[in-house]
Amino acid sequence: MTAHEIAVIPGDGIGREVVPAAVDVLEATDLEFEFTYADAGDHVRDETGEALPRETYDLAASADATLFGAAGETAADVILPLRAAVDSFVNVRPAKAYPGVDALRPETDLVFLRENTEGVYSGHEDRLSDDLSTLTRVVTDSASEQLAEFACEFVETRGADGFTVAHKANVMRETDGRFRDAVLAVADERGVETDEVLMDAFATHVCLDPAQFDIVVCPNLAGDVLSDLAAGLVGGLGLLPSANVGPERGLFEPVHGTAPDIAGEGVANPAATILSAAMCLEFLGCEEGAAVREAVEDVLESGPRTPDLGGDATTEDVTAAVVDRL
Ligand code: NAI
Ligand code: MG
Repeated sequence: MTAHEIAVIPGDGIGREVVPAAVDVLEATDLEFEFTYADAGDHVRDETGEALPRETYDLAASADATLFGAAGETAADVILPLRAAVDSFVNVRPAKAYPGVDALRPETDLVFLRENTEGVYSGHEDRLSDDLSTLTRVVTDSASEQLAEFACEFVETRGADGFTVAHKANVMRETDGRFRDAVLAVADERGVETDEVLMDAFATHVCLDPAQFDIVVCPNLAGDVLSDLAAGLVGGLGLLPSANVGPERGLFEPVHGTAPDIAGEGVANPAATILSAAMCLEFLGCEEGAAVREAVEDVLESGPRTPDLGGDATTEDVTAAVVDRL
């Protein structure tokens, strides 16, 4: 069996606590891995002037998959190029309430498919005067269609009924209009059922009745904001994993940031990052992904739990329990 080459980029803050936890869990499977560590983030910028060293970018661009933690102030300088390094066009963000976790909405079981290359995150910002700054929003048919193709396959693999497109095409008629039309046209051609919702209305509906949604396809910024909102429904950011999927490679990271309020205390919840590692295994075609996910779900149900979930366990306690279940 050839080893899977995994680039490991812990980054800053709790990234340095939860990424090693996920590596421990991967090592506890029967699979062969070759882990290569690389650095990025605020602490690298402070030392060298540059948050994302060329070697780190190149490693992500050549590894089978990358496991990333989080970066602080330099998040945009680190994560946006790293997502580009793996040609990732979609960010898959499941938001699921787990048995045993005190969730605002225990019936929540959603997956956001977030456009990952353009929208308002494409970097075209300008300061035109002391008073005026502008941002150019980029939407292409090609990126929207690529996302929609992925969404259609995702619906089929999951055995879902279809997907919902969240947008704001009533106001951003040109850009979100193009996004909506392109996504719906692909779904129509492939015979996948869809419905649409205005993204502001979605924010209300998902709080009141999350069970009406399953797979939600959305533009970049909307996916970022709405998935954090969904994190609030299921018990917090410590639970949300994500997969940045490209045609050949992927980058797997928790949705959360560096959590400066708890960094260094050893109490960060590793679940989001271990679940991201499970998504990595699934991406690599390894059935062990399901076993890792089940082990995490088991520990969430029976404990030990970190303080964000009302427990008093450490990151290491939870990681050891997951390894033990595996
Ligand atoms: P955050 O996600 O770091 O923290 C928000 C809240 O959730 C904090 O109270 C934190 O303690 C809690 N939290 C997050 N993850 C947790 C975990 N695994 N276990 C327990 N509690 C957890 O978001 P915030 O505070 O807005 O940002 C902090 C820094 O992280 C900023 O510098 C920001 O730029 C960066 N950031 C980086 C991201 C990335 O690298 N992808 C994503 C989001 C933020
Ligand atoms: Mg975010």
